[in-house]
Amino acid sequence: MNAILLLCVVGFVAAQQPQPCVTPQQWEANLFDYSEPNRFMVRGRLSYDATNHRERLLEEVEVGNDREYYDVIALFDLQTEFIYNYKAHNCSRQPLTRPWRDFGIRPDARSFGEAYIGTSALPGLGLLVTMWGTNHTTPSNDTVRTFGTWTYRACLPVSFISHSTQMGRTQSSFFDIVAGISDPNVFIPRPECLTAKEYAMRDTIFGTPAKKFTK
Ligand SMILES: *[C@@H]1O[C@H](CO)[C@@H](O)[C@H](O)[C@H]1NC(C)=O
Ligand SMILES: *[C@@H]1O[C@H](CO)[C@@H](O)[C@H](O)[C@H]1NC(C)=O
Ligand SMILES: *[C@@H]1O[C@H](CO)[C@@H](O)[C@H](O)[C@H]1NC(C)=O
Repeated sequence: MNAILLLCVVGFVAAQQPQPCVTPQQWEANLFDYSEPNRFMVRGRLSYDATNHRERLLEEVEVGNDREYYDVIALFDLQTEFIYNYKAHNCSRQPLTRPWRDFGIRPDARSFGEAYIGTSALPGLGLLVTMWGTNHTTPSNDTVRTFGTWTYRACLPVSFISHSTQMGRTQSSFFDIVAGISDPNVFIPRPECLTAKEYAMRDTIFGTPAKKFTK
């Protein structure tokens, strides 16, 4: 009798161990990013593609009292970033040195449980989220600690804090998420960013990479 009870308790505890949910691979969101070392606040619309490691951000950057507007396309697999400056109407191309930011939950993350943002007292006043943290070392030997919240249903990112020895602390908040990428051309750089030859071949160079089929 006691053995059966014990088995039930063990089973219950094991079943309670939460598994990280899987964040959709492609979505768009309004993003607020605050980066501590540079003291800048970025506000913008993010197109996020975890399948092809691409990010596009139409952003407003606030450094002190100054405001700048950029269209940034970061292609992590090509290790290249295109930064179009709306005020100066010019574009710079830079090698990407920062690592891809994955806004999903790492499989090795530790659960910090679930909680309501707002309240569970009445329907519609709260959002149930799941909380996860990690300590990990990147291939460049950077020690990164993260803490994030994701919606319990659909696993959409809500907030994400990352503290890295090399990159400092950044905090990101996501709003108004829409599933998928509304326009696949968002990852194609503007003509100002490309040579005439590159622009003519833009779909081949920057279009959605062909899906790899494995049999
Ligand atoms: C763009 O224009 C700004 C302001 O005139 C200048 O400071 C910057 O160096 C230019 N960037 C490029 C890539 O030409
Ligand atoms: C990460 O490491 C810090 C310091 O060693 C520790 O306080 C924290 O609990 C760890 N977090 C996780 C999720 O393991
Ligand atoms: C990684 O960094 C730690 C200290 O942060 C250091 O002890 C270790 O030797 C480094 N490893 C490599 C491969 O550079």
